[in-house]
Amino acid sequence: MIKSYEPKSLSDFSFSNPQTEKTLKLLLSKQIPYPANGKNGILLYGAYGTGKTTLAKLLPILLDRAYGEKQFFEDSRWLYDFISCGQVTRGDLLMAKINQMIDMHFPSNLNAKIVILDEVDNLSESAQRSLKGVMNRKYFGLIMTTNYISKIDSGLKDRSHLLNMDAPSPASVLPLLRQIAIDIGWTDALDADLITIAKECKGSYRGYVSAIVTEADNRKCLMAA
Ligand SMILES: Nc1ncnc2c1ncn2[C@@H]1O[C@H](COP(=O)(O)OP(=O)(O)OP(=O)(O)O)[C@@H](O)[C@H]1O
Ligand SMILES: [Mg+2]
Repeated sequence: MIKSYEPKSLSDFSFSNPQTEKTLKLLLSKQIPYPANGKNGILLYGAYGTGKTTLAKLLPILLDRAYGEKQFFEDSRWLYDFISCGQVTRGDLLMAKINQMIDMHFPSNLNAKIVILDEVDNLSESAQRSLKGVMNRKYFGLIMTTNYISKIDSGLKDRSHLLNMDAPSPASVLPLLRQIAIDIGWTDALDADLITIAKECKGSYRGYVSAIVTEADNRKCLMAA
């Protein structure tokens, strides 16, 4: 059976930037109210494969839990709409779509419609500027991801909590790598072996399972030779 290591809570993430973790904890403990005070954006930015899209989809669920006990829907996908900006060709249609999504607001503890814009740097400059207007709407939270923070409009950044998600340190992902090694039967892997693998993967969660399986397989071959 293929095991999934999909994170389920904030503690399943390793953050390279301590301020990112701090801000997320303040948001999820409601010490920083969200969406409120002119900041209804959350912008996750940084290196490839560090979990930005995964966290973007998890945050509406964690925020909903933080803001109330009641579960309105069994399927948490009702809590947000997801738009992949790489597939957006017309900014005006996107704005109309987002406005429609906000109007179709299902009940939730957060009392705000969450829209995720994945890879928001794909939007043209004018589309990003139009988004500013949409962001002024009430009862609306926008969670965005990008690899290219320099391509993001200053007005969008000003309306957002900026969360850096660059590659976590190899040591901080060691527990996950150890778990993967155990699960695949490489029980005598040394910390140093796993740290080397973590460095090779450059912080991308995408590479860990295949790198560990490959390395464990190489070792078996060496022992058999
Ligand atoms: N904290 C984590 N623990 C284990 N696996 C994770 C974690 N975060 C992400 N992953 C897994 O790593 C893969 C890549 O995650 P994701 O697509 O969220 O990264 P990303 O930062 O959005 O990447 P990109 O910059 O390429 O868009 C996914 O398969 C996801 O399930
Ligand atoms: Mg992504």
